[in-house]
Order: sequence, then structure tokens, then C-alpha cells
Amino acid sequence: TLTVQEGEGFCSVEGTIDSNHEGFGGSGFANTDNKYGASVAYSINADHAHSALLDIRYAATSDRPADIEVNGTVVGTVYLPATGAWSSWNSENMTVPLQAGENQIRLIAQTESGLPNIDAITVSGNSLTSGSCG
Ligand code: GCU
Ligand code: CA
Ligand code: CA
Repeated sequence: TLTVQEGEGFCSVEGTIDSNHEGFGGSGFANTDNKYGASVAYSINADHAHSALLDIRYAATSDRPADIEVNGTVVGTVYLPATGAWSSWNSENMTVPLQAGENQIRLIAQTESGLPNIDAITVSGNSLTSGSCG
């Protein structure tokens, strides 16, 4: 199991890393611009191909569905319903296919509000390490 905060394995946010709402882990959370298609990107290294559970810890005051893209292919959508406050954090998860080697994972906003604030992702699989962003 690998949790990626704002350090190793965190590749980019179309927005900023903020820390003005409490309850986050690591050094803050990713705050995307409020626009359709805004994304955050991560890199995870797996030593063999397998399915893993991707857990997203987030906060938002409105529903903020996101497509999950793995290695350039959208593999599903997570609904990411409102958590009630910017300081109330919940998790949603889905199973994602990982290939052997580097896996680029992107969350892509499906509304004009952008993504929720994203604290971290946790990937539960076998022999996972943070990947490089390239
Ligand atoms: C507020 C909040 C931000 C959040 C933004 C949003 O500005 O302080 O943390 O990202 O709303 O609606 O996405
Ligand atoms: Ca935002
Ligand atoms: Ca964090």
C-alpha cells in the first residue's frame, strides 16, 4: 500500500498546493483551478501488472465527479460527493489496472467547478513505490 501526498509520486496539479483548510496530511492538498478538465497527476511504480484499489482523500462543498485516467486511458469515474466543508475529508475508491513499471494516474474534473481539494491518494496493491513523473 502506497500513500502519495505532495512529495514523491506527486507529479502536478493544474492549480496550487494549499494548506488553508485543516485536516490534511502531508504538506497540504492539491487545489485545482475551478474548470472542466482540470487535473492532478501522480506516478506509481508496480513491479508486475495487477489490479489495485485507488483511494482518493478529498474535500468539497459541492459534488465534483472526476474521470480516472491510467496510462492515458480513462478507466472509470468517481462521483466524489460533497463532504460538507472544506475541512471535512472523505474517501472514495475504485479499482484500477496497473501495468508493470511506471503508471501515470490522473484525476480529471468533470464539472466546471474543477476537482475537489485532493489531500492524497492511497493505492493498495503489490510492491508499489512512487514513480517518476517524466
Ligand atoms: C474555495 C476553497 C478552495 C477550493 C475552492 C473550490 O475557494 O477555499 O480550497 O478549492 O473553493 O471551489 O474549488
Ligand atoms: Ca479549486
Ligand atoms: Ca496532503
